Amino acid sequence: MKLTLVNGKGNPETLLAESARAIPPSGIRQFFDIVYSTPDCISLGVGEPDFVTPWRISDTGIFAIKDGYTHYTPNRGLLELRALISADIEKRLGVSYNPDEEVVVTMGVSQGLDIALRSVVNHGDEVIIVEPCYVSYRANINLIGGLAVAVPTYASEGFRIDIDRLIKALSPKTKAILLNYPSNPTGSSIDQATLEAIAKIAIERNLIVFSDEIYSSITYESGHRSIVSIPGMKERTVYLNGFSKSHAMTGWRLGYVAGPKYLVDVLLKIHQYTALCAPSISQYAAIEAMRNAEREVDHMRSEYTRRRNYIVKGFNDAGLPCLSPHGAFYVFPDISPTGLGSEEFALKLLKTGKVAVVPGGVFGECGTSHIRCSFANSMENIRTAIKRIDKFVKTL
Ligand SMILES: Cc1ncc(COP(=O)(O)O)c(C=O)c1O
Repeated sequence: MKLTLVNGKGNPETLLAESARAIPPSGIRQFFDIVYSTPDCISLGVGEPDFVTPWRISDTGIFAIKDGYTHYTPNRGLLELRALISADIEKRLGVSYNPDEEVVVTMGVSQGLDIALRSVVNHGDEVIIVEPCYVSYRANINLIGGLAVAVPTYASEGFRIDIDRLIKALSPKTKAILLNYPSNPTGSSIDQATLEAIAKIAIERNLIVFSDEIYSSITYESGHRSIVSIPGMKERTVYLNGFSKSHAMTGWRLGYVAGPKYLVDVLLKIHQYTALCAPSISQYAAIEAMRNAEREVDHMRSEYTRRRNYIVKGFNDAGLPCLSPHGAFYVFPDISPTGLGSEEFALKLLKTGKVAVVPGGVFGECGTSHIRCSFANSMENIRTAIKRIDKFVKTL
């Protein structure tokens, strides 16, 4: 490498890691820089609950500070919390994890996924992602030298995974499949037949499955199912979940990973060296969340249901076809009837209609004729936003 000389010295910018330099900045962040400078704008762009953390949970965190529980915890996390997590997974999904060996508390699903990927993916390995998908996946995989291979899904197919398309995307270098149901950004769930087909492929081809189920507590009529419940899949699945969305605890940075011992042993080494442990205060608060906050979670879910019904109807009435999400708090309407691409639509809507939405293209190529709108916002704001969108569409 030839260094550019600045004032007779080597340019330190050239020392930055290539993998880090190569990843693009988050499309969402760039867009929101414009949003913040637009007054009177309603944002349907935010990917976090608008509810504050239920008070009983925050209170427990405050007491943890007052009582001096402000030190490192075991690397894996507090045993009491791990035991609660394990019991919860068993109750919901019928899969048993040993809290001593198969559960690690992490700093959100974000860190859990990072160390899970690093435990499995070698330089040059391929990981299947299902697009449109959460913006971080491709970057997370690329940062560790892996290659993200996208399987596109489409609104016309209910965003279901076409198994033939998935099989075509596999190669001898495929190491893993990354799933996220309910999905950000589409809100779709996965049906049992598709889960079974993917499980069969994973077992036959000896692949790992990463299953990001962070929205599993925010599901509507169809409930939630997980690949880990399928016989033979616990051995090759990294189950990821957390408190950010379910308990409106995004700022507490708390999640967890459950997986087979051989995999968790390796993942834990990375966690020990790079993070030590998840925040102690958040872990104490999460114990309260797991023990006593079911009513609050139910309340948030029923509020999301009300808003979902309103926003889905609003988009369809405005002439933008919109599927009703099975889970999470996003809708992903089709804006192709307007003749605009998703970026152009989002920018024009922001400037003239003062509503911020996320252009669907940031979630993958196949999302370009959509926008993502979050209904984690007050009913009043959602009503006003829909009125503005309807008016904007009529001007096109
Ligand atoms: C699908 C998905 N996974 C993970 C995350 C990050 O979760 P956490 O706050 O637990 O790191 C998000 C946040 O928006 C998400 O949408």
